[in-house]
Amino acid sequence: MTLKPARPIIIDTDPGQDDAVAILLALASPELQVLAITAVAGNVPLALTTRNARILLELAGRQDIPVYAGAIRPLVRPLVTAENVHGKTGLDGPDLPEPTMPLAPGDAIDFIIRTLRERPAGSVTLCPLGPLTNIALALVRAPDIAPRIAEIVLMGGGCFEGGNITPAAEFNIFVDPHAAEVVFKSGVPITMMPLDVTHQVLTTRARIAAIRALGNRSGEVVAQMLEFFERFDVAKYQSDGGPLHDPCVIAYLLRPEIFQGRHINVEIETRSELTMGMTVADWWGVTGRAANARFIRKVDSDAFFALLCERLAQLP
Ligand code: BDR
Ligand code: CA
Repeated sequence: MTLKPARPIIIDTDPGQDDAVAILLALASPELQVLAITAVAGNVPLALTTRNARILLELAGRQDIPVYAGAIRPLVRPLVTAENVHGKTGLDGPDLPEPTMPLAPGDAIDFIIRTLRERPAGSVTLCPLGPLTNIALALVRAPDIAPRIAEIVLMGGGCFEGGNITPAAEFNIFVDPHAAEVVFKSGVPITMMPLDVTHQVLTTRARIAAIRALGNRSGEVVAQMLEFFERFDVAKYQSDGGPLHDPCVIAYLLRPEIFQGRHINVEIETRSELTMGMTVADWWGVTGRAANARFIRKVDSDAFFALLCERLAQLP
């Protein structure tokens, strides 16, 4: 049997407990080759997202993967963070040691550009899990990379589900709507995981218990992170657990068949303060504007959690 070569990805992220689970899922999956983690300011400031990314690599024993620091703030607007959801460090919940591995020399945007230029065109997939600042900066500085990107699979936006940071906007797009506009207008194939789908992936008691029952340290750390993370959304939505937003991106790369969506036009609101960062998704095709994103709306959440448990069990 010939094994398919692992798919090279760059995870651009602002960890965040749900980013953490996405990163661990990717590290535990032999179908994926994580070329680097590029950190961006988002859930917490850059100094913490670069720290948190390294903590997670050390937890998984993968200090061989470089972590690059990216943008310290959004393109135009001031940085908005989400300590109210993720806690002071962004990874509140478990007691985790400070990282010892250094940051990679150089900058995330340079790394993204260099990698896309050096690797075969159409081979590298970008996985943004936070505000799109780093990706937009790379596309603006080096437009030649756009046709070389295999695909961008991102967490962001919402339509029927509304927003989470404002009634209209989801956090990642709201924090840097101008960057999102650059990305959505780049012509790169985009698959988006909006709140419409991520709100279907809930960390119920039984699911957290199953993760803890894996018996490894990573499972225990994930269980503690999710117990902390879910309290915010459980109080807000009166739901049976918190939504695992960012892991949807990685699960989609591994099992696209458990997701359903449509290829539609999505525009980003960058002018109105009231609806800033809204993803105006033409689900019903009423505008005649060209489709630019695959908008995912449904997932088989039991299949998702089965995959997550199977993979987390492989980690230390
Ligand atoms: C997104 O915002 C962050 O708080 C999460 O990590 C996720 O990427 C959800 O709106
Ligand atoms: Ca995130």
